[in-house]
Amino acid sequence: MVALKVKRIEMGTVLDHLPPGTAPQIMRILDIDPTETTLLVAINVESSKMGRKDILKIEGKILSEEEANKVALVAPNATVNIVRDYSVAEKFQVKPPERVEGFLRCPNPNCITNDEREPVDTVFVRESREPLEYRCRYCERTVREDQIRELIRPS
Ligand code: CTP
Ligand code: ZN
Repeated sequence: MVALKVKRIEMGTVLDHLPPGTAPQIMRILDIDPTETTLLVAINVESSKMGRKDILKIEGKILSEEEANKVALVAPNATVNIVRDYSVAEKFQVKPPERVEGFLRCPNPNCITNDEREPVDTVFVRESREPLEYRCRYCERTVREDQIRELIRPS
């Protein structure tokens, strides 16, 4: 099969080496509004390094390192490329953040963050890096790396 060619961008952020199928979740994590942002999304394309991968190109927006690091929750090996004037000006690997606020749901149904009448934004604090584990600041429930994907809130 001929590799799918994805257009190069002039300025913005390219998130590369994303596990196949994670691009939509990453859009939710980064709170990207597709009605206001120009995006190129490649899903399940061939990659020499990882077999298959997703790529998310955000045209016209430079993500900060802090913002980009949130992506590590579902894409631990993601590469962030900052593109200026059609060339890669900076490249770095994501690192899992110490705190995760807002976009993860707590799996404990009795946690106050799941109270329908008075919902509180979730706050998770990193407990361990390998394996990656977070702890809910409110109820102490831990969330393992393999649970994270299903706990991302729909936007
Ligand atoms: N890219 C882009 N627009 C540009 C420059 C680069 O969309 N003007 C994208 C490329 O398509 C690629 C990513 O940014 O998905 C990284 O580009 P580059 O460093 O040139 O590619 P590689 O060397 O293959 O990257 P790596 O070594 O990280 O796999
Ligand atoms: Zn909780």
